[in-house]
Amino acid sequence: MATTVIALLALIVPIWSLPPLAPTQYPGVYQLTEPVDHAECPSWDYRNNILYYVNIHEGQVYRYDYDQGNLAYITLDGEVAPVIPSSRDPNLLIVGLDRSVAAVEWDGVSDPSETRILAALAPDFPTSRVNDGKADKQGRLWIGTMGYEGPDGLTPDEGILYQVTCDHLDSPLVEIAPVNISNGLAWNAANDKFFYIDTPSGQVVEYSYNDETGEISDRRVVFDVNDHTEHIVGGPDGMTIDEDDNLWIALYGGGAIIKVDSSNGDLLEIVPLPALDVTSAIWGGPDLDILYVTTSRVSLTDEQKLEQPAAGAVFAIFGLGTKGRPTFEVDILGSIDDETCGAKKVLRG
Ligand code: BGC
Ligand code: CA
Repeated sequence: MATTVIALLALIVPIWSLPPLAPTQYPGVYQLTEPVDHAECPSWDYRNNILYYVNIHEGQVYRYDYDQGNLAYITLDGEVAPVIPSSRDPNLLIVGLDRSVAAVEWDGVSDPSETRILAALAPDFPTSRVNDGKADKQGRLWIGTMGYEGPDGLTPDEGILYQVTCDHLDSPLVEIAPVNISNGLAWNAANDKFFYIDTPSGQVVEYSYNDETGEISDRRVVFDVNDHTEHIVGGPDGMTIDEDDNLWIALYGGGAIIKVDSSNGDLLEIVPLPALDVTSAIWGGPDLDILYVTTSRVSLTDEQKLEQPAAGAVFAIFGLGTKGRPTFEVDILGSIDDETCGAKKVLRG
């Protein structure tokens, strides 16, 4: 498709003096950042020890530099989710923007490039928007959308989970549709299972996954929050997976992140957080043993905001006794002005 350039609304505002890591009421859970409205979609770039996340409705892309201990952000012109670095250039960020996939080049210090739109999504649902997304091992981008969410609730059945590759920028592949709120995604260590969450269903489902073709098949339910209401509440939102193939699932409206055995759906652990709306998680740190968890304050009442002053922050959870595997980067563009998606890539073994 033709390249479109849209303007950036604001420039970098680096934050050089973050508050020191402050222990919260829960052992091992530390507040890493100041709250924003709706922190979401954390991703970890192990090449440079960088944690990215977004503040969806404000169009903000945040970059936390673990080694330097500083945080900076840029503001894009639209609602933004997710943010995933590119495999061939760590400073080339692939983002979802309103109903598109876009690229922006930013090193956390210099001014960002202009935003380049790569692909259009959900043309039939003009009030829908992008939500969670991840890259698979081959660098394909899996990105979901959701219907408009307003004071009267969610417009149903207007979400789609897409697969976006270099070869299909003009017509991203529809993988799952319709969905309501396309959310958490993960692949197992053997890379033959894909886990997925459509939040209002309350379920985590799995598909058989063919890494060579990128095809999913044979849907099964792994876990249903509604089967565990004596212990947990809320909707499953973002998720990540650890080295033992246990899923770590954020509970929006449930004030916790839960650990679930992906092989049998057993609920293994509940880690409470000082925020009701927990949105997602990713393993990070040089040893991939810190669980970074994003939260939201956007749906809280004024009273709840007073009770949960840290809601909207990113938390770092230490000492969980397990760790993650490196996640993958997007491989759909060689550089910001690359017109051909760059050199054709070879399937990664
Ligand atoms: C969406 C929110 C939504 C929440 C519900 C998030 O991923 O961005 O808009 O309210 O999921 O679980
Ligand atoms: Ca989410």
